[in-house]
Amino acid sequence: DAEKVEYREQIKALLKEQNAVLVAHYYTDPEIQSLAEETGGCVSDSLEMARFGKDHPAQTLIVAGVKFMGETAKILSPEKTVLMPTLEATCSLDLGCPVDEFSAFCDQHPEREVVVYANTSAAVKARADWVVTSSIALELVEHLHNQGKKIIWAPDKHLGAYVQRETGADVLLWDSACIVHDEFKAKGIEDLKKVHPDAAVLVHPESPEAVVKLADAVGSTSQLINAAKNMPNDVFIVATDRGIFYKMQQMAPHKRFLEAPTGGNGATCRSCAHCPWMAMNALDSLALELQQHSNEVHVDAALIEQAMVPLNRMLAFAE
Ligand code: 13P
Ligand code: SF4
Repeated sequence: DAEKVEYREQIKALLKEQNAVLVAHYYTDPEIQSLAEETGGCVSDSLEMARFGKDHPAQTLIVAGVKFMGETAKILSPEKTVLMPTLEATCSLDLGCPVDEFSAFCDQHPEREVVVYANTSAAVKARADWVVTSSIALELVEHLHNQGKKIIWAPDKHLGAYVQRETGADVLLWDSACIVHDEFKAKGIEDLKKVHPDAAVLVHPESPEAVVKLADAVGSTSQLINAAKNMPNDVFIVATDRGIFYKMQQMAPHKRFLEAPTGGNGATCRSCAHCPWMAMNALDSLALELQQHSNEVHVDAALIEQAMVPLNRMLAFAE
């Protein structure tokens, strides 16, 4: 613990010295989330991380999250230095959508509007008409559907199918999933509900359809945190990465939050409900990065120019 305190002090001093700001996701280590809060940085969902990084006057952003979040920050602020505690933290959705295959798929359906999730590479974003995060996916697809547009959705098949069901839009789905959310099991949640009949079920839409159907609230990480705070229930079953419990508990200290089971028999696999790539962000690697600047995010200039267009459209739409 003395070590933790030392790292925290070091990080605070380095952020100040370098006029750098810490932008963290809700799935990262609570130590990192609380540091972001204490130092005037931000801890939020992926949409707000993008907006915060773009609007903040600091010349250096240090992004604690996964690769696509660092790349998004860089694309939206090419003139800033964007650092990450590691450049190895990827995302199964990003990995599941290689740009060449994706581009060929889009070429086969030129009449469709291309909507991609933020959890993709810069190259995939560059091929898209729109980028969305889970907090605005429904609204944007509804908006396009109302204009009579047909849609290609990539890469998350569960979020895509959810959006399709809710909006009735004509959506062609890419076949990829989040390895964390794909593990939540409806049967396990139903069993847990028998023990806690008054619990409300909160579900991130990257979860399978059967799990989404059990939800009392479906939404992005920020939307789920708001639901935890605002819903009258005392107990919640939460189907998303357990990193979110830090903020939920902070926003609603007297409520109880239970991890949604990832096994069909109600058992919870401790390593399942936590993203292995988010877990690569640690206090020591954060401190080291601020000292060494060895993990600067670079994105090809031509890709920045193209990917910036759908990303800025996303931010404008979300206003
Ligand atoms: P949010 O945009 O809801 O924060 O989701 C990001 C993510 O990676 C979920 O797994
Ligand atoms: Fe990607 Fe899933 Fe990890 Fe989010 S939780 S970063 S979607 S692998």
